[in-house]
Amino acid sequence: GLPGYVKIVEVGPRDGLQNEKEIVPTSVKIELINRLADCGLPVIETTSFVSPKWVPQMADHKEVIQGIKKRSDVTFTALTPNLKGFQSALEAGIQEVAIFGAASETFSQKNINCSIDESIGRFKEVTEVAKKSKIPVRGYVSCVLGCPYEGHIDPTKVAEVSKKLYDIGCYEISLGDTIGVGTPGAMRCMLEEVSKVVPVEHLAVHCHDTYGQAIANIFAALQLGVSVVDSSVAGLGGCPYAKGASGNVSTEDVVYLMNGLNIKTGVDIDKLIEAGQFISHAIKKPTSSKVARAKSKS
Ligand code: HMG
Ligand code: MG
Repeated sequence: GLPGYVKIVEVGPRDGLQNEKEIVPTSVKIELINRLADCGLPVIETTSFVSPKWVPQMADHKEVIQGIKKRSDVTFTALTPNLKGFQSALEAGIQEVAIFGAASETFSQKNINCSIDESIGRFKEVTEVAKKSKIPVRGYVSCVLGCPYEGHIDPTKVAEVSKKLYDIGCYEISLGDTIGVGTPGAMRCMLEEVSKVVPVEHLAVHCHDTYGQAIANIFAALQLGVSVVDSSVAGLGGCPYAKGASGNVSTEDVVYLMNGLNIKTGVDIDKLIEAGQFISHAIKKPTSSKVARAKSKS
C-alpha cells in the first residue's frame, strides 16, 4: 500500500532560486525560507556552498544561513560539493548537508568539473568529516531518468552510483530526474534496480516537471514504497548545467496529491500557497503550480 506519511523536502530556495538570472536579494531569500518553515515543512534546502563563479545566485550562502530564524521543528540543509564547501557550511551553522553526484559522466563534468569516480572521492572526504561533526549527509544522484548530454541512462548505472553514496555514509539518496524526461514506467524500472542495493526507506525522488510527468512519477514511486519527495514552492527552478530543465514539481501540487491520498505531510497548503505568491511576486514570474493557480481563481 501507500505510505501513511510522506516527508517533503522543500528545495525551492536552492534548486529553485539557483536558476534565476537576476540576483534575488538576500532578505527575500530569508523571508521565503522563514515563510516555508511556517508552513510545517520538515526539511528546507536553503542554499549551496558552491563556487560563486559557477553559481553567482548562491554567493550569499553564509548570510542566508545566518539570517533565517532557527527552529527545532525544521531541518535546514545546504549543498556542499567538496570539503571547502562543507567547512564553510559548518562555520555558517548548518545542521545538515547534501553532496550531489550524477549517473552521467558528462553531466558530472559539466556540473562539478570532475568524473563520477573523482566526485565519490571528494564526497567521501565530506562524509568522513561530517561524521566527526555529527552532521547528517544526504546524497543526490542526478540524471537518473535521462541526461541532457548523454540521453538514456542505464538504471544499473544509477544503482551503482546510489550504492556508492550510501556506502560512504549518506543516510538518504535522492534520485534526481534532473531534466524531467522520465515517465512512470521508467521510474518503476529505475527504482526496482536501485532498491536492490539501497533499502527503499533510504530513497527519495526529486522530480523536475519539464514534460509534465512529475506528479505521475511521484505516484509511481509511492507505490514502490518511497516516502520522501523533493519539491519546490511555486515550481521554481531548473539546473544551470542542464539546458532545458524546467522547475521542480511544485510543493503545492505535491501536498494536494498527498492530501487527496490521505497521506500526512504536516504541511499547511494555504500558507504554502501564500509563500509561493510571495516569491513569485518577488521574482516577477507567474507560479508554475497548477494548484496555486486554480486556488487563486476560486
Ligand atoms: P572547480 O573549479 O573544479 O574547483 O569547481 P577547484 O577545486 O579547482 O577550485 C577552483 C576555484 O573554486 C578556487 O577558487 C576554489 O577556492 C573555488 P580560486 O582560487 O579560483 O579563486 N572553490 C569553491 N568556492 C566556494 N565554494 C566551494 C568551492 N570549491 C572550490 N565549495 C566546484 C568545482 C564543485 C566548486 C564547481 O564546479 C561548482 O561550484 N559547481 C556548481 C555546481 C552547482 O551548484 N550545480 C547546481 C546544483 S546540482 C543540481 O541542481 C541537481 C540537483 O538539483 C538534483 C537534480 O535535479 O538532479 C541536486
Ligand atoms: Mg534539481
